[in-house]
Amino acid sequence: MSLLRATRRQLLKLAAATLGAVAARLSTGATRPVAAQPTPSRSTPALDVVLRVNGNTRRLTLDPRTTLLDALREHLHLTGSKKGCGLGQCGACTVLMDGKRVKSCLSLAALAEGREITTIEGLARGERLHPLQVAFIERDAFQCGYCTSGQIMAGVACIAEGHTGSAHEIREWMSGNLCRCGAYDHIVAAIQDAASAAAAERRG
Ligand code: FES
Ligand code: FES
Repeated sequence: MSLLRATRRQLLKLAAATLGAVAARLSTGATRPVAAQPTPSRSTPALDVVLRVNGNTRRLTLDPRTTLLDALREHLHLTGSKKGCGLGQCGACTVLMDGKRVKSCLSLAALAEGREITTIEGLARGERLHPLQVAFIERDAFQCGYCTSGQIMAGVACIAEGHTGSAHEIREWMSGNLCRCGAYDHIVAAIQDAASAAAAERRG
């Protein structure tokens, strides 16, 4: 089946419609997860999208409504980022975009073009885990692990933002990332450890 190519104007209209639909679901209190990636059809023009993910350039042809989370998981097979609510409420899908944390279930892949995206798969340096990954292991900061990649990506941003002055401050700035297993005390401790290590490294 040949798919038409969408124009940028069409994309932006679709983006507005898609985000509007999410907003409507949130305003009505709907909590059912959104469906997986939209199914392209004759009436859904495809779009060529170039993403920078974990330092690599990836070229994709996507339904313009595809979220960044679905592009990562379904098209690039980077399944570390998880789909919890699909509504921006749980943080399981958190990735970094140009170093800032974003909920990838609320971001359209096509609008992430030109941005540097980092997922949990891109955090380690070869065999060497990121210090926050190490701290999560040492602090036993996960149980089922479903929220963990999102917690770690948000934690990396939280440290970079300097919101680690106290356990209370960390809790506040990590409040967008939920853990059904209730591992919050351990998560906060891991972030404190990694923040202290980063500060010590800066001091030399
Ligand atoms: S999947 Fe819950 S915030 Fe994205
Ligand atoms: S470790 Fe299970 S949801 Fe957080």
